[in-house]
Amino acid sequence: MAILKVARMGNPCLRQVCTPYTPEEILGGEAQRLVDDMIETALEYDGAGLAAPQVHVTRRLVVMEWAGRKRKSDTHGLLPVFNPVVTPMTDKTLVHYEGCLSLPDLRGEVTRWSKVRIEGFDREGKPIDETVQGFQAAVVQHECDHLDGILYVDRLTSVKSLSFLKEFLREQGYDDDSD
Ligand code: NI
Repeated sequence: MAILKVARMGNPCLRQVCTPYTPEEILGGEAQRLVDDMIETALEYDGAGLAAPQVHVTRRLVVMEWAGRKRKSDTHGLLPVFNPVVTPMTDKTLVHYEGCLSLPDLRGEVTRWSKVRIEGFDREGKPIDETVQGFQAAVVQHECDHLDGILYVDRLTSVKSLSFLKEFLREQGYDDDSD
């Protein structure tokens, strides 16, 4: 296991359409190691999720926090999904603030579908088909956007919402003792 270097906005790997995995590749050592390393990296940097292009691998793989719905293949509550496909399941949207490890210390307001279906494959190559709502639905959309070279700042409700984390927390009424 290793903590991987996270690509920051401006790195071309964050703007590519990523390549799907074949079933054989999912079960291979390289992909399995990548899953372990991405989970360790997401935990280290306290991310709700991480997409492969964020660690310089332009392939269709994400790991995401998966609250309350433990699967056998979970590791530390983070679910890896290969070749995810996201489908909106409602006309309703939610508006909230997002951050991203590739744009450190920033938050911005984004509109997401409030309910989505995610299909894909777990690390054992078994099909995943889940419908999720609210924050979990937003995480799914954020992480899967990365696989098409899309960052949350591309979807801001207004560029004026973009805030440094410290200012954002202060506005939200959180005490901030840190620098
Ligand atoms: Ni992100």
